[in-house]
Amino acid sequence: MVVLPVLGLVLSLAAAQFNQDVIVQRNYNMARISRNWYTICMASDNMTRIEENGDLRLFMRNIHLLKNGSLKFDFLFMVQGECVAVAMVCEKTEKNGEFTVAYEGENKVLLSETDYRTYVIFYMENIKNGTKTRVLALYGNPLPLDRSYLKRFVNICQKYGLDSQKIINLTRKDNCYDIPQKN
Ligand SMILES: *[C@@H]1O[C@H](CO)[C@@H](O)[C@H](O)[C@H]1NC(C)=O
Ligand SMILES: *[C@@H]1O[C@H](CO)[C@@H](O)[C@H](O)[C@H]1NC(C)=O
Ligand SMILES: *[C@@H]1O[C@H](CO)[C@@H](O)[C@H](O)[C@H]1NC(C)=O
Ligand SMILES: *[C@@H]1O[C@H](CO)[C@@H](O)[C@H](O)[C@H]1NC(C)=O
Repeated sequence: MVVLPVLGLVLSLAAAQFNQDVIVQRNYNMARISRNWYTICMASDNMTRIEENGDLRLFMRNIHLLKNGSLKFDFLFMVQGECVAVAMVCEKTEKNGEFTVAYEGENKVLLSETDYRTYVIFYMENIKNGTKTRVLALYGNPLPLDRSYLKRFVNICQKYGLDSQKIINLTRKDNCYDIPQKN
């Protein structure tokens, strides 16, 4: 398999510990998060939407900063065991790190924090048919992140008032890893 040489590199990245000193929480340089990312875990105040067959259970593959400042999210979405590609263009707002996008309703998307290197956390508010749903997602390198990042994610859940008992781990929960990815 072609993926094997890549695994060694990825394993060494995955060994990194969460480092409080390199977190960025404002004045983001969006170009630095423009790259491959993978969904590590998610939390929501409506689990139905992120559990299996949930409309917001999205497997991140790539974030791309467009010339006009919008962010294109390339996700995979599982439909009856099949991986379907979804591209979402999040329009930038006048606030750094804040975006809006229509997807399963109207969404406000906020970059919550990143270290530009191993992880990025996005917060999203979705309004569908008059109901607001809040979702938090941790994206990282393709292989499992060190558990210290999960601890951080628990903290951020609490910051947004989300129940940290209900975090779901989506590491390798999709079967789409054999689709070749551009680096
Ligand atoms: C949660 O999401 C499901 C699926 O969209 C919906 O049917 C249900 O009403 C939602 N529950 C709440 C409490 O918003
Ligand atoms: C930015 O560019 C993308 C891709 O061309 C386009 O879909 C989007 O509507 C543009 N946004 C704005 C605000 O012009
Ligand atoms: C939207 O909400 C209305 C009123 O709350 C409800 O009657 C209707 O069934 C909902 N539609 C969908 C698609 O959930
Ligand atoms: C998620 O599950 C994988 C195994 O499937 C595990 O190795 C990893 O540590 C878990 N990640 C988190 C953040 O709990």
